[in-house]
Parts: sequence; structure tokens; C-alpha cells
Amino acid sequence: MKFITGSNSLEQGSVVGDIRVPGDKSISHRSIMFGSLADGKTEIKGFLEGEDALATLAAFRAMGVNIEGPENGHVIVHGVGMNGLKAPKEALYLGNSGTSMRLLAGLLAGQNFSVTLTGDSSLSSRPMGRVADPLRLMGADIETAEQGRPPITLNGGASLKGIDYDLPMASAQVKSCVLLAGMYAEGETSTTEPAPTRDHTERMLAGMGYSLSRDGACTRLTGGGQLKATTIDIPADISSAAFFMVAASIVPDSDLILRHVGLNPTRTGVIQILELMGANISLSNEHLVGGEPVADIRIQYAPLVGIDIPERLVPLAIDEFPVLFIAAACAAGTTVLTGAEELRVKESDRIQAMVDGLVVLGIEAQGTADGAIIKGGCLGAGHEQVDVQSHDDHRIAMAFAVASLRSSSKIVIHECDNVATSFPNFASLARSVGFQLIVEA
Ligand code: S3P
Repeated sequence: MKFITGSNSLEQGSVVGDIRVPGDKSISHRSIMFGSLADGKTEIKGFLEGEDALATLAAFRAMGVNIEGPENGHVIVHGVGMNGLKAPKEALYLGNSGTSMRLLAGLLAGQNFSVTLTGDSSLSSRPMGRVADPLRLMGADIETAEQGRPPITLNGGASLKGIDYDLPMASAQVKSCVLLAGMYAEGETSTTEPAPTRDHTERMLAGMGYSLSRDGACTRLTGGGQLKATTIDIPADISSAAFFMVAASIVPDSDLILRHVGLNPTRTGVIQILELMGANISLSNEHLVGGEPVADIRIQYAPLVGIDIPERLVPLAIDEFPVLFIAAACAAGTTVLTGAEELRVKESDRIQAMVDGLVVLGIEAQGTADGAIIKGGCLGAGHEQVDVQSHDDHRIAMAFAVASLRSSSKIVIHECDNVATSFPNFASLARSVGFQLIVEA
């Protein structure tokens, strides 16, 4: 599938509207996982019906959990308790979803049945040694393909022991994997992270009655606890909202409202980075929903300037860099990103994919080992049409759709099918606020 964008930015109107983007992907995954392991019935509202979260849902159905829905974001999970999962008949296919694979590896390492986790070609090339290593330290019996790549096979019946694990990289998936295995381990398990990463696992486990303690970078829990069913109201995903935040920031006269966006402080780096670049963002209706801060966000056009992105904000905006690269390309001056080597092992090598696309669009951009240097300029390179590859990466595809708002040439974005993994209605929502975007098979 391709995205074909408007032919000329001069015809591009402003980005105006009042919209709600779909539910948070990280919370959607965890709502199915923890709801399945809880005692009782968990009701979920605002579930993201994207392929990644649906892969998690299908995996738990395959392990015997009765799950009703999703229907308009409404899901009912009939929890089977911590030890109620059943061996699936086949390998669990997790599509494009790193979160499903890494969190499930932790949850399933201590079960009494064996299971194999597989994925698509992108997921099959991503590093899983980062979860296999700590799980082996806990006593898990795990096989991976060469160089720690998927598929992962977890051989059942291993008895796990708690460990104190110092994470070698800032990764919420690795942290969550170890903590989830810790629920099935003897004794205490702790994780210490090198920088704060999203803490939905910690908040949701605590919210469902699993006792854990948090002290700075260290989280600690003891195996053998239980989860209580609850109701979960999932806010809109700030990572999806980010495309529209940048869109409204770069097109003159734009004024956009994004409703009910999750503003967990471990996720708000994109707002802080855009504000440092001069963006005009205001919050209203701030409140807590199920332990997560939520607000409406208003973004009005403002001229952006290039900055050196503070490294402390990198893990707090880790999924938003594709579209932040577009903000940088539209800013006056140079933006320098460092400390972001994790971007090279996402659904694609996001540094390379973005730099390549920006260069094709006529921007001076250069990748570095752990980031990029981007000089703001005119997008379009004087061509009538520019072709950009998304490398099957949803966020690269959507980022270049945002770039089209300021491009003097038509941009054809290839390999856009995976947009459905995180944001199935992106194209129609984008059109509703003024994007000129056609989807072609
Ligand atoms: C996620 C953690 C992040 C993020 C991913 C979702 C999660 O990955 O990029 O989209 O839900 O825990 P890392 O842990 O690899 O940084």
C-alpha cells in the first residue's frame, strides 16, 4: 500500500480540527496481558484495534483465555488467574510487535508448558538477546535463532529465581519482561534502569493489586502474587498524537485540538522537545484516568528553531523521533540528536530510514552512530514527485505523510501497510484535518 500526498504545498491549507487519536498501544497490550492473568473480569475501554495489540489479544485467546470484542474499543477479558494459561496448539505469531514478543517472553518463561514466539520479517530481525539474557539468569530455558533473533522458544517447566538486573539499555520492554518473569520467580526480582522509561507495567500491576516498590530507577517485586480484575480506560496514544502535533506546528494558521491524550511523564518528551523548538502547545482538562494523567492538547502553528536535543529527553520520546526529524527539517537552523542508538533497532533502522528520506526531499541530513544532524530547509528538492521508502515501518510512513504538508513536490510513500499496526485510521483522520492524502493499493 502507498500513500500519495498532495502535489504542492502552496495548495495545502492549514491543519485544523478537533480529533481523538486511537488508544495507547503500550497500555492496550498490557491490558490484555494483565487482564488475562487476573482473577475475574476486566473491562477495557479505548482499546487500540491495531494489528500489534490484536496480535497480543490473539495470543492470549490461543492460550485459552476467553476475550470478548474488540467492538469500538470495548473488550472484556475473562481472566484465568496467574496459573490458568494453557499451552497453545501452535507457535504464537506476533506480527510486527516487539512489545508482544518481549513482554510475552517474560510472562511465559515460568509456565509449565513450552511455547514458540514468531513474527514477521521486521520482528524476526530484531534483537531478543536483551530479553533472553536476563531470563536465562533467572533460570529460564530459552532458545533463539542465530544472534539472539526470533523465533524464541521457551521450554516449559523451568523454575525461575529472582534476580537484581541492571538494564544495559533504557528499555521499557526489557524492564517489563524481567518484572513479569519475576511474578513467576522464587523470591525478589528487581530492575534498575539507566534512564527513566515508560512505566505502564509498574502502574498497571500496582493498580491491579500486585505489590511492587519503586525507588528511583529501581523497581522491585516478589514472585507468587495475584492480580485483581479491574476496569481500564485507555487514553489516546501520545505517540499517535505526535504526528498531528508536528503537523499543526509546521503549517501556518494551523489550530488543532487532540482530545484525551495520555500524558504519562515517561512519555511526554515529544512535548518538551517541540516546546524547546518553539512550538505553541497548551494543555487543558488535565485529569487522572486509571492512574494515568490525561489532557486535551491544543497546538497552534509557530515557527520552529533547531536545537540540540537534551539526551535526558530521548527515552521519553523514543517512538516520536521519526516525526521529530520532520519538525527539525522544517525548523530554522540545525537540530542535533545524540544518545539515540536504540532508534537503529526499532521496526526499521529509524535513523537511516529518516535520513535517507529527508535527503531525497532535498534536506541536508546526516546520520551518526547514535543520532542525526538535520539542517532545516525546503522540502521537495524542486522535483514534481519524490518517492520515499518507509521500510515497512509504520512511524516512518506517517512521518513522511506529515512532511508532505510542507513539501513543494508530491511525495509517494511506499510500503505503508504497517500503519495499521498502531494507527489503522491514520489516513482518514489526517484527511479530516486537512492533509491531502490518497491511499493506493
Ligand atoms: C514499548 C517500549 C519501547 C517502545 C515501544 C513500546 C513498551 O520499546 O519503543 O514502541 O510498550 O514497553 P523499548 O523498550 O525497546 O525502548
